[in-house]
Amino acid sequence: MRASMPIERTLILCKPDAVSRGLVGEIITRIERRGYVIAAMKLLQLAGDAARDHYAEHRGKPFFDDLVNFITSGPIVAVAAEGEGAIEGCRQLMGATNPLAAAPGSIRADFAQTIGRNLIHGSDGATSAERELKLFFDDRDFVSRRHDLERWMRE
Ligand code: RTP
Ligand code: MG
Repeated sequence: MRASMPIERTLILCKPDAVSRGLVGEIITRIERRGYVIAAMKLLQLAGDAARDHYAEHRGKPFFDDLVNFITSGPIVAVAAEGEGAIEGCRQLMGATNPLAAAPGSIRADFAQTIGRNLIHGSDGATSAERELKLFFDDRDFVSRRHDLERWMRE
């Protein structure tokens, strides 16, 4: 019997560069192939206030204004990804913040060049996942994927 980890939900954002470059499918494919399931998903464009809330931990840092301007510059796709150890697993799929430091085979290493255009956001821990998911989704946006998760865990 395989060891199990807690089922987690994490917030993934396909950032404006991912949407404009047509990489949303590629990103979601990688998440699904890893075995995480989509529990909620939407296309939207963030207003400044919502972007500042989402990136509140970075308020006051030198890159904050650029970050907010970029994340509000076009449509994004928000995904709640669910699965065993999904928070850390999705961080691994993303690769390090700076694409030049990202592991080969990760999304940022394979498709991005610079830290300011790194295609994807993923929650960096359980506390931020919970906080960030609430900024993008209501309870009624989530659909149960219990059967798909159970099938994955049996295989
Ligand atoms: P994210 O929040 O977007 O998933 O990225 P992350 O956890 O890997 O990186 P984080 O430290 O949270 O930074 C958020 C975003 O800010 C931009 N950044 N620029 N110029 C810089 O030194 C710098 N540092 C961070 C990046 O676009 C990063 O994704
Ligand atoms: Mg972060």
